[in-house]
Amino acid sequence: MNVDVPEKIATHRSGDIPLRHIAIIMDGNGRWAQKRLMPRTVGHRAGVKSVRRVIEACGQRGIEVLTLFAFSSENWRRPRKEVGTLMDLFFTALEDEARNLHESNVQLRVIGDRNAFGERLRNKIADVEALTANNSGLKLVIAANYGGRWDIACAARRLAERVRAGELDPEQIGVAEMGAEMCLADLPEPDLFIRTGGEQRISNFLLWQLTYTELYFTPVLWPDFNEQHLDEAIGAFTRRQRRFGHTGEQVEKLNNA
Ligand code: IPE
Ligand code: IPE
Ligand code: MG
Repeated sequence: MNVDVPEKIATHRSGDIPLRHIAIIMDGNGRWAQKRLMPRTVGHRAGVKSVRRVIEACGQRGIEVLTLFAFSSENWRRPRKEVGTLMDLFFTALEDEARNLHESNVQLRVIGDRNAFGERLRNKIADVEALTANNSGLKLVIAANYGGRWDIACAARRLAERVRAGELDPEQIGVAEMGAEMCLADLPEPDLFIRTGGEQRISNFLLWQLTYTELYFTPVLWPDFNEQHLDEAIGAFTRRQRRFGHTGEQVEKLNNA
């Protein structure tokens, strides 16, 4: 894997905004396997290969941040055996890829409530985060036991704690104060959201952070998702005009200024 392109800035732009952050809902593993008359878990294993491919491709394309939805706070509702396989796969992937990621200068971070994970997995996450903490290449965010509503609730709780401590007046709480407490507050917000697998919904992914993200849905199942599909999504992004509430004419004027 070669993902070491820290100084390269993404040249893909939309409305003159560079593509810095891609967030992906990796969906369709189960159906990919079922189509082949195989158990869903085979699809999850195949999905890990796509993860590797997309991390490398994003690095090569100068993307700064890649956020991948690996396990939602609602995925615990799945059959116990499937949940177990997903946890095992997460552990194994971290173990197998840690060195590779580090050598590729990738900085890994995991968002989500990790208290629900076993100790072995929690320790592995902490180890890989520590190993790669000072890397300056692609920032890879894995959302695991993550929920957008959980994220918002955590931010609200932290603000409430600051109010209780007398550090903050409730009247001072606005969008900026909330935003500063959310996961990924230190990173650029996602520019492009991709969901594979054909469903057109957010499924409790980054609710706050996706406010002005360009949404892209593809029927391609996650284990089949490759560099060409990524480039198609990036191509679609470059053809969008991001207006952030302005009129199209205003945006054109701003871009030509
Ligand atoms: C995404 O694939 C992986 C996880 C949610 C962990 P799915 O397992 O949801 O695959 P489908 O949607 O059932 O095909
Ligand atoms: C979203 O996919 C979560 C991940 C890909 C990790 P799901 O397959 O769980 O979403 P729903 O249940 O179809 O909305
Ligand atoms: Mg699914």
